[in-house]
Amino acid sequence: MIIYRVATAFDLPVFVSLDKELFPYSPWSASQYKEEFSSPTRHFVVAVDEAQSIIGYAGVFAPGGAEADVLTVGVVPSHRGKGIARQLMVLITDWAHKQGSTAMMLEVKVDNQDAIGLYEALGYSKLNTRKDYFGPGLHALVMRLELS
Ligand SMILES: CC(C)(COP(=O)(O)OP(=O)(O)OC[C@H]1O[C@@H](n2cnc3c(N)ncnc32)[C@H](O)[C@@H]1OP(=O)(O)O)[C@@H](O)C(=O)NCCC(=O)NCCS
Repeated sequence: MIIYRVATAFDLPVFVSLDKELFPYSPWSASQYKEEFSSPTRHFVVAVDEAQSIIGYAGVFAPGGAEADVLTVGVVPSHRGKGIARQLMVLITDWAHKQGSTAMMLEVKVDNQDAIGLYEALGYSKLNTRKDYFGPGLHALVMRLELS
């Protein structure tokens, strides 16, 4: 059974390690995660399996009005295609909505078809592109979801 819960500072090393695997082009460091975790405008959730291992995670920045930003979402390869990312996205979106956000924004690498498929399935629309957003030659697609 998969359990979803709010992330704690104890999960930080796992985030750092999984980031290296899932986001080799832009992993966050421990100090970056530490800073993010300490801010009340950020919210991170995890999915854990029966062995209590983290198999997915997501984070959002909701400054308390207008737009919230999806900071990250990732699922380990062995557990993909089971709806875990969808559920993690629902959890961070609900939290942002409760903070007063009226829209969700995100940047995704233009060639990341898996993630673009996920966001489109959740109702996000493509807005524009940001050149070199993730580094030289790594362009981002900006996507947005209105929250009713
Ligand atoms: C993108 C990612 C988070 C999807 O995780 P997942 O748990 O497999 O996704 P889900 O099973 O919740 O899929 C939900 C929906 O997203 C879409 N989707 C998921 N994977 C997809 C793929 N490979 N191609 C197209 N659409 C896809 C589908 O519409 C799916 O709905 P369905 O199962 O009803 O068809 C995962 O592939 C991942 O961790 N990738 C590496 C990290 C990453 O790139 N994160 C995004 C950063 S912007």
